[in-house]
Amino acid sequence: MRNLILFGAPGAGKGTQGKSLSERYKIPQISTGDILRSSVKNKTALGLKAKEYMDRGALVPDEIVLGMVVERLKSDDCEKGFILDGFPRNIKQADALETLLGAMGKGIDSVIGIDVERKELVRRLSGRRVCRKCGANYHIIFSPPLNMGVCDKCGAEIYQRDDDREDTIEARLKVYEQETFPLVDYYGKKKLYRPVNGIGSVDTITESVVRAIEAGKS
Ligand code: AP5
Repeated sequence: MRNLILFGAPGAGKGTQGKSLSERYKIPQISTGDILRSSVKNKTALGLKAKEYMDRGALVPDEIVLGMVVERLKSDDCEKGFILDGFPRNIKQADALETLLGAMGKGIDSVIGIDVERKELVRRLSGRRVCRKCGANYHIIFSPPLNMGVCDKCGAEIYQRDDDREDTIEARLKVYEQETFPLVDYYGKKKLYRPVNGIGSVDTITESVVRAIEAGKS
């Protein structure tokens, strides 16, 4: 069983690495950001409430996010493990996760922290584009689609996330520094935190992440 948390600032590459790890280990990637964006797209009551927070780069209230995660972790496909991407994001969420997993007889095996400097985070976020249909991730400089504006994989339109605009990026990075970064110490004290260098090619970083996960198992 591999119960993993992918940790890092906005734009560090959690979503990108989570996809590779999910394929490699055959366990689901659970991205709270993706679940929230899907609720926003479907205009559910939860989505409409969440959008107010997401558009200004703030954290969505804990009770909304925790409810979603509790339901998701109870699914059958999490039996052999899971990769949490973008959760937990503050101490309250981390405590709630520990309680929930404890009640299920489980725990976290490793928290992989992807380290990327601030300047590079801003470059990655401001250049990111995403497919509206299949969610494929592009970057206008590092990994552009063959035809600008069109997804290579499914042909649908690619767009810029509302929260990837310059002022919202700054707000998200500030929220990360104030509310999320303290989890490095939180998981460090539990001997679960394993940092990896997040600069380099996607494949090189995946190899470092896998090494860190395997080191955590011994
Ligand atoms: P969320 O969707 O989780 O956003 P985030 O944490 O800000 O992370 P990102 O998706 O922006 O970045 P990433 O680390 O996944 O990087 P990616 O792989 O895409 O959350 C959005 C919002 O939802 C939050 O602001 C909040 O409002 C709400 N929310 C979510 N979870 C919550 C929670 N638990 N509690 C409360 N609120 C919550 O890569 C970024 C770009 O870089 C891409 O273009 C990619 O192609 C490129 N890239 C990736 N790797 C490399 C590389 N090695 N070299 C060059 N480019 C690269």
